[in-house]
Amino acid sequence: MDPKGKVAVISGGASGIGLATAKLLASNGASVVIADLQTAAGADAVAEIEAAHGKAHFVETDVLEKEDLQRVLDEAVKRFGRVDIAYNNAGVGEGGDFLEPGNETWERCFNIDLTAVIQAVQLEVQLMRSQGGGGVIISTASMGGLLPMPTSPIYATAKAGVIHLSRSLGYLAAEGIRVNAICPTFTNTPLVQAAGEAAMEAMKQEVGGILQPEDVAAGVLELIADDSRAGSVMRVTVRKGLDYAHEPRR
Ligand SMILES: NC(=O)c1ccc[n+]([C@@H]2O[C@H](COP(=O)([O-])OP(=O)(O)OC[C@H]3O[C@@H](n4cnc5c(N)ncnc54)[C@H](O)[C@@H]3O)[C@@H](O)[C@H]2O)c1
Repeated sequence: MDPKGKVAVISGGASGIGLATAKLLASNGASVVIADLQTAAGADAVAEIEAAHGKAHFVETDVLEKEDLQRVLDEAVKRFGRVDIAYNNAGVGEGGDFLEPGNETWERCFNIDLTAVIQAVQLEVQLMRSQGGGGVIISTASMGGLLPMPTSPIYATAKAGVIHLSRSLGYLAAEGIRVNAICPTFTNTPLVQAAGEAAMEAMKQEVGGILQPEDVAAGVLELIADDSRAGSVMRVTVRKGLDYAHEPRR
């Protein structure tokens, strides 16, 4: 799908990977709807895209609220006419060790990183079916969904769920709706910057460097542009660039 003239909804689009993708899609001629908790950053993102002659709209959204997920799609249709591309990207890291007594922070991580993606995909497929004309749905998983992650086991479990959901829905390509997942390794965004300099240095040592959000955005654009991709799992790594973890089974 050529993004030119298409409408894209991007959750977590006010920062990091989502913001880089919003800018890239807008510069390729898509109208973008940024859905995020962060209102000031969302407004800044819209202003930046509009200053570069792109089309953008911000919708304050908590992906944990199903009504918000529906409202984003409704607003996108009201503002730009339809939704062709849905990028489920909002995500958070895992706070603390879930094995510590009383630590329930893992539940928020799991619900944002997996349950909200399931709910979003459900609504997006329903909308794309009702509109006709197909669509592309991409969700941000992680290399942590493909490999064990002892420091963040619940995050890794949620991301593995995103991968398996996307693979399992590859069959929707038969009706023109292509569902895919993207798995970046460590990327230079506020999410990892919050871990501090020493932790970021350890991440670089582990995987041979750190990606920039624009590297991941380029992968999202490839998944949109390549009409053969459905049920695909793209990896984004410093060592190999863009490649695929599993070939889809049809
Ligand atoms: N940075 C990495 O190393 C890395 C690696 C692999 C995967 N990822 C994934 O990439 C995605 C984007 O992360 P990022 O690194 O750009 O981080 P980021 O913190 O820069 O961006 C995440 C965005 O999601 C938004 N968000 C969080 N919870 C939300 C909620 N409940 N409702 C709406 N918006 C919410 C935040 O406000 C923020 O704008 C996440 O799914 C993350 O798990 C990141």
